[in-house]
Amino acid sequence: MTTTELPGLIFHTLTAEDGDGDRAALLRGWNEALLRGFHEGRLSEDHERHWLEATRADGIRMTGAWPSSVAVGDAAMPVATYASWGGELNVGAGHRVPLHMISDVTVSPTHRRRGLLRRLMVDDLRRAQQQGLALAALTASEGAIYGRFGFGPATRLRVVEVDVTSRFALRQPPVGDGSLELVEPEAAWETMRAVMERHCSATRGAVPWPAFYEPIMSGRYDFDAGGPNKKSRVVVHLDAHGTADGFAVYEHAGQVEGRGTVDAKALVGLTDAAHLALWRFLADVDLTERVRFRRHREVDPLDWALVDHRVVRTTSAYDLLWLRVLDVVAALEARPWYGDGTVVLGVEDSLGLTDGRWRVSVSEGRADVAPTDEPAEVRLSAETLGALYLGGIDVATLTAAGRVAGEDGALEQWSAMADGGPAPYCATGF
Ligand SMILES: CC(C)(COP(=O)(O)OP(=O)(O)OC[C@H]1O[C@@H](n2cnc3c(N)ncnc32)[C@H](O)[C@@H]1OP(=O)(O)O)[C@@H](O)C(=O)NCCC(=O)NCCS
Repeated sequence: MTTTELPGLIFHTLTAEDGDGDRAALLRGWNEALLRGFHEGRLSEDHERHWLEATRADGIRMTGAWPSSVAVGDAAMPVATYASWGGELNVGAGHRVPLHMISDVTVSPTHRRRGLLRRLMVDDLRRAQQQGLALAALTASEGAIYGRFGFGPATRLRVVEVDVTSRFALRQPPVGDGSLELVEPEAAWETMRAVMERHCSATRGAVPWPAFYEPIMSGRYDFDAGGPNKKSRVVVHLDAHGTADGFAVYEHAGQVEGRGTVDAKALVGLTDAAHLALWRFLADVDLTERVRFRRHREVDPLDWALVDHRVVRTTSAYDLLWLRVLDVVAALEARPWYGDGTVVLGVEDSLGLTDGRWRVSVSEGRADVAPTDEPAEVRLSAETLGALYLGGIDVATLTAAGRVAGEDGALEQWSAMADGGPAPYCATGF
């Protein structure tokens, strides 16, 4: 469907299938505009082929705004790009629910601040809501963009540099009779995928890898370098029965700032023993004094398993998954709860998608949620509901920040119901 909305612009929706038809130029232009938006290099044939494969596998819906005419430029290149597709989120207690995933948001500097992002985002969120999706998610380049659209930061990570000189000493060796095997990345791909699948079922906040992770993790194609990744290595951890229960993908970066450095790209351990054994392995890589990792948990067992916890230096912390509730009843009924009771929740939503009052009654860890006309006892915005949803931040902190309001008794009741469970962890950027 093609519609003309903002003056001088035409909106199209594309899928990977358009790569074969008369809209192939638009699809290529969309990808070129995306790369331009994120200051990356120009599209090569290989890049396009791997990108199309992944885009097709995930059924990605690409929207954008194209200039209706150009004087000297390329009319096939849009001035705005936006993509969304269906994924999954572990909302806690092993429940995996469908997730509306959003990415590739760019607006050309020539067309900033005219409401293009707003138009693409609002249309897409309404459509996802009509399709019955309860939650939408994205990862954000800047922290001030998406709150206005009802997204809140729901999971956080640390960037760490781990000193793996003789200072790296675990208090005790990782327990169990596990073993490690170095496997070529391409050969390890199916194993990584299987471990990741189990990790996503076990971990609150986890999101399965979108299809574009396959070329990256298998070393087949590195979108940044524009070719196969010849430096990537994979170590697999096996339990006592020889079943893979963890892996790490890493690269030796050589001497960086005078220190032999390993960059861990992924590290997934299904058990504490596997997690610590993989760290022990990375610490033992020869010619290495430091391991860098961008996906370290806010609170990670490694820090506490070391004789000297300062060996793990946090260089920065950041949010990864931003969540947006699209269906209050379905979203709140899907997640686990931690104390019995009833609260009438008032949600303010400037996009009008979840505005209203909702009676939330919790019994034995599950909530029964229904719209109500009763007065709200606890009030918050859609953005704050997104931040609270996975339990990554507690009610008291958001109340202290002025983002949750209500009488003391109702706030305590809401906290008793909502706070608890394991901290969410998401290591899937998209
Ligand atoms: C971020 C970006 C997509 C915004 O596009 P845009 O079309 O200019 O945004 P809109 O005109 O629709 O603005 C919508 C609202 O967001 C605000 N906004 C947009 N970009 C913002 C930013 N970087 N920081 C803070 N607020 C921002 C606008 O002020 C506007 O607010 P209002 O509706 O309350 O008036 C665009 O600046 C861009 O392409 N940036 C580079 C790529 C990038 O960072 N993409 C995001 C990836 S997660």
